[in-house]
Amino acid sequence: MDTEQLLASETLRHMVLDLRQMQTFIEDPLVITKADGVWYEDVHGRRIMDGLSGIFVVTVGHNNRRVIGAIKAQLDTIAFAPPLHATNPPAIELVRRLGEVTPGNLNTIKLLSGGSEATEAAMKLARQYHKQTGHPNKYKIIARYYGYHGATMGALSATGTRRRKTMFEPMLPGFLHVHPPTCFRCPYEKTYPACDVFCARTIEDMIQLEGSDTVAAVILEPIGNTGGVVTPPAEYLPAIRELCDRHNVLLIFDEIITGFGRTGQMFASHTFGVTPDILCMGKGMSSGYIPLAGIAFRDTMAEAFWGSDEDEVEFSHGHTYGGNPVAAAAGLACLAEIVERDLPARAREMGAYLRSRLESLAELGIVGEIRGKGLLVGIEFVKNTETREPFGPDVKFGVQVGKTALKKGLLTRFDPNWIAFAPPLIVNREHIDYMMDIFTDSVKETLKKVRG
Ligand SMILES: Cc1ncc(COP(=O)(O)O)c(C=O)c1O
Repeated sequence: MDTEQLLASETLRHMVLDLRQMQTFIEDPLVITKADGVWYEDVHGRRIMDGLSGIFVVTVGHNNRRVIGAIKAQLDTIAFAPPLHATNPPAIELVRRLGEVTPGNLNTIKLLSGGSEATEAAMKLARQYHKQTGHPNKYKIIARYYGYHGATMGALSATGTRRRKTMFEPMLPGFLHVHPPTCFRCPYEKTYPACDVFCARTIEDMIQLEGSDTVAAVILEPIGNTGGVVTPPAEYLPAIRELCDRHNVLLIFDEIITGFGRTGQMFASHTFGVTPDILCMGKGMSSGYIPLAGIAFRDTMAEAFWGSDEDEVEFSHGHTYGGNPVAAAAGLACLAEIVERDLPARAREMGAYLRSRLESLAELGIVGEIRGKGLLVGIEFVKNTETREPFGPDVKFGVQVGKTALKKGLLTRFDPNWIAFAPPLIVNREHIDYMMDIFTDSVKETLKKVRG
């Protein structure tokens, strides 16, 4: 297809992009034709820096020859193995390697193809586990407002973001929500550290009020994307780990964004020093070269799923593409890149530099808070830094900045009040300078418009 055909609205109007108003999209469509390293190129030959790893995915960068080579070689060997009857060498090797890099004894792995599949599987595993260990009434799942766990009905029921779910209600029964640790705007109007992580303690209240014999699991993102890179204080996750243990409630970390080096360690679980019972992974697991996701859980939990065929205690769950050999080969190559090039260390170093550049914007008087770990960094904008008053809802400051930056050649994740950066972990200082120069200009231009 030539450029004119690719941009023809008669064709594009028959597409449905993720969470997008297509009527707006077709007015000025972005059609990307190539990518290399940290750069995209669109249909007009315009370069755009990938400040978001696509959507928190392309950890090892675009056009990584090792990952591409592994996929090609695997296609020549075996592209599909029967998932009900057999497994295959790359899947076996990937499970072994993942067991080495996951925290604690999360050595039992189920391979899947997408993040929503992973969170669904984790919650189903938790329910079946309790049924098979003498607690058949433990079925409720506690999640958090602003959390996002995927688009399918179970994952969506755990999701706590109104815009993504109300049009599909009613959600599944048994899903409850608590506030996340948004210290900058504490929903309980408390102040850290005097609050003694009250928000974590509300989870225990909920477990007790609901009856701990009815609660199966708590699911959360160690750092929440929606809400503006919500980063917990150091005591928060240890406090939740401890209360889950006391009430025999499983702790599920949704590390679909935070996994594979993003926060400066292999998993955010390492960054915060807390091991969940079940860890959900996706996105950076294959760097987007092919769909790949999974869950890792304790070997001691896995024991509840061992028995004879007649016992019917095997994990009663599966997807056609789980453990696909080509996906597993991509995952192995991607993991090798992350480990051998020590990309988590690079995320720490470059994340610190990105942060320092963002901090220098303080003089503009609109930086509320800079949050995140490693190369998952968010900035919240405010109208008034003293009072933390946000810009009015009609201003959509962050959206204006994000759209301006995109026009200038930088892709970010933007929201009315915040912007997130999550470039590929291969970025260098020059890339970050390029990103921050565009970002600074975009903030200044938006400020001019807003302040007049
Ligand atoms: C934290 C988190 N969990 C789950 C998902 C769902 O993953 P997928 O879109 O691959 O189904 C996402 C997707 O953005 C996510 O960010």
